[in-house]
Amino acid sequence: MIGVMNVIGSMGLAVAVRPCCRLFTAHIPSRCPRRYCLRSLPHRRSAAGWIRTAVAQSMGGAPFSAGRVSDSVGLSSGTVRGAEKAFERIVVPGLTEAKHLVVESAVPLKEKMAAKVEVKGVEDKEQAEETKGNDVSESEKEAWRLLKNAVVSYCGSPVGTVAANDPFSELLNYDQVFIRDFVPSALAFLLKGETEIVRNFLLHTLQLQSWEKTVDCYSPGQGLMPASFKVRNIPMGSNGEFEEVLDPDFGESAIGRVAPVDSGLWWIILLRAYGKITGDYALQQRIDVQTGIRLILNLCLSDGFDMFPTLLVTDGSCMIDRRMGIHGHPLEIQALFYGALRCSREMIVSGDGSKSLLRAINNRLSALSFHIREYYWADMKKVNEIYRYKTEEYSQDAINKFNIYPEQIPHWLVDWIPEKGGYFIGNLQPAHMDFRFFSLGNLWAISSSLATPWQAEGILDLIEDKWNDLVGTMPLKICYPAIEDEEWQITTGSDPKNTPWSYHNGGSWPTLLWQFTLACIKMGRPELARKAITVAEKRLSMEKWPEYYDAPTGRFIGKQSRLYQTWTVAGFLTSKLLTENPGMASMLTFDEDLELLEGCACSLIKSPRTKCSRNVAKSHVFL
Ligand code: GLC
Repeated sequence: MIGVMNVIGSMGLAVAVRPCCRLFTAHIPSRCPRRYCLRSLPHRRSAAGWIRTAVAQSMGGAPFSAGRVSDSVGLSSGTVRGAEKAFERIVVPGLTEAKHLVVESAVPLKEKMAAKVEVKGVEDKEQAEETKGNDVSESEKEAWRLLKNAVVSYCGSPVGTVAANDPFSELLNYDQVFIRDFVPSALAFLLKGETEIVRNFLLHTLQLQSWEKTVDCYSPGQGLMPASFKVRNIPMGSNGEFEEVLDPDFGESAIGRVAPVDSGLWWIILLRAYGKITGDYALQQRIDVQTGIRLILNLCLSDGFDMFPTLLVTDGSCMIDRRMGIHGHPLEIQALFYGALRCSREMIVSGDGSKSLLRAINNRLSALSFHIREYYWADMKKVNEIYRYKTEEYSQDAINKFNIYPEQIPHWLVDWIPEKGGYFIGNLQPAHMDFRFFSLGNLWAISSSLATPWQAEGILDLIEDKWNDLVGTMPLKICYPAIEDEEWQITTGSDPKNTPWSYHNGGSWPTLLWQFTLACIKMGRPELARKAITVAEKRLSMEKWPEYYDAPTGRFIGKQSRLYQTWTVAGFLTSKLLTENPGMASMLTFDEDLELLEGCACSLIKSPRTKCSRNVAKSHVFL
C-alpha cells in the first residue's frame, strides 16, 4: 500500500508521489534554513517541493540536494542568507514562463511602492490631511503597538501575526499565524507601506502548501493551504542549540479536523492585493508562485459529482470553523471563490496551459455569478415567490428548481425582510435554503462584484435598515439570527461555545469591520462605514480588543472571547486606513465584468435539454 507511484503533474512534469508520505515524514516540519534554505525536507510535499523534485527527476532522477537544485533550477546566485534565500527566483529549464521571470526591475520595491502610493493616493491624502490633520487617535496608536507586538518572526524575518496575544486565556492554537486572520494585518501593513512581512508570508505559506491529505491515507489533496502555522524551536543535537521550523496545520490538529477551504482563496486574494498596492508584480509572476496559484485552482476547478457551479464543502471550512450547519455550498466560500477566480485571471502568466486554464476560469466565473445572483438572492419579491412555490416539479422548465417547500421560510424572515433591499441567503441545496444572513459572504459578494450593482446596493440598504440587528453596539454580526433550542442542538451538536447569540451563532465580530468598510467605499457610501467604525472605536480599546461579542445587539464581551485578538486590531486599523485613503479600496475590489455575462453558463445553449438563462442574468445588471 505504501508504494511510490508516478503521476503527471498539472504542468506536465513527472512527479513521484507517496500516497502515505506522511508516514515517512510525519512530524518533520518545514525547517528553518541554516546554511541552505532548501536543504531539508518539508513537513509534507509542497508545491515548491514538487518543482524541485520534478527538476531533479528531469535531470535524470538524481537525488535532491540544495546545491544541485539551486544550480539546476537557476536559483539566482545571490548570497542572501537565511529565509530570504529560499525565495530567490526559481527558474525551471524548459518551462516557457521561466525566461521573463529572471529579469527583476532595478527599482527597489520601496521606491516603486512610494511612487505608486503617491500617485494613487495623492488626492485622497490631501483630502484626508485637510480633515484629519496629522493626528492619530489613541486607539489607533494602541492598535499599531498591538499589531507590531503580534508579529511573528522566522529566521529573523517577519512572516505573520499571531491570532491573539491574550495573557489571560488558554493559548490553544491562538499562538499560531492563521492565513485568514493575517489578511487584515497584511492590508494594514501594506496600506502603511510596510511590505516585507506580507511578501514573506506569501512565500512561506506557499512553501507549506500541501501535496497530500493528512487525515487518513486517501488520494492526494494537492494545493491545500494550511489553516495556520506555527514557528517552533526544535533542539538540534545535544549542544543546547535550537532550530526554527515552520509547522503547518491543515486541519489535522484543528478542533473538528476540518480542511480550511478558504485559506488558498485568501492567499490568492492577498497575492493580488500585494501586487496592486506595492507594484511588485514580479512576485506573482515567479514560477513557484504561479504553480501555487494553479494548484489551488486545480483543487477548486476539478470535477466532482456536484451539479452546481458553487464549491461543495464540509461544515466549518471557512471563518466559521466548526459545525454550524453550513456544509454544502455556503455563501462565504462562494464569494471568496469568485474573488479568487477574478484575482487569478489577472495574475496567470500566459504560457503552457494558460489558455485552457483561463477558459475554465471564465466559464466558472460566469456560471457561478449567474447561479448566486439568480438562486441565492432574497428580497421581498423573491420571498413572496417562494411562499407561493409549487413543489415536486419535474421538468427542465421547473420554476422551483431545487424543490423548496414554502414551509421552509422561517418565521423570523416574514417580518424581517425589508421592503427595500435584500441579501444573499447562506446556502442552497436540494430542498434546502438557509435563509440566515451571513455578513462575510454578503460583503465579499459586493467587493468582488459577485453581486450585481443593484444587488450590492440592496445589501447595504438592508444592513442600514437592520442596523440594530446587524451592527447594534458592535459591528458586525457574523450571521443573523442565532439558531436556538432543538435546532441549535441538532445543527451544532449542542456546541456550548456556539450557544444562541454567541461566537459563530449570532455573535458580533469586530474584524468584519474592514470588509464592511471596503464594501461601503466601493458602493460610494463611506458614511455608513464611518458610522460603524465610530460604534466600534467607542469600545474596542477600552475592552481590550475582544475576538467577538455576544447577545443580540453585541453588548457583552464574548463568553470565551480572547482579548487582544489580532484581527480585531488589524480590522480596525485597515478600516481606518481605507476611510482615510478611499482610493486604495479600488485596489482590493472588482467592477462588474459585462463580458462574463455574455458567456453566461451558455455552454448550456449547446445542450438542447437546457434553457439558457443569460438574459435573466443580464437583466439583473441593468435593473
Ligand atoms: C476561530 C475563528 C476562526 C479564526 C480562529 C483564529 O476559530 O472561528 O475564523 O481563524 O479563531 O482567530
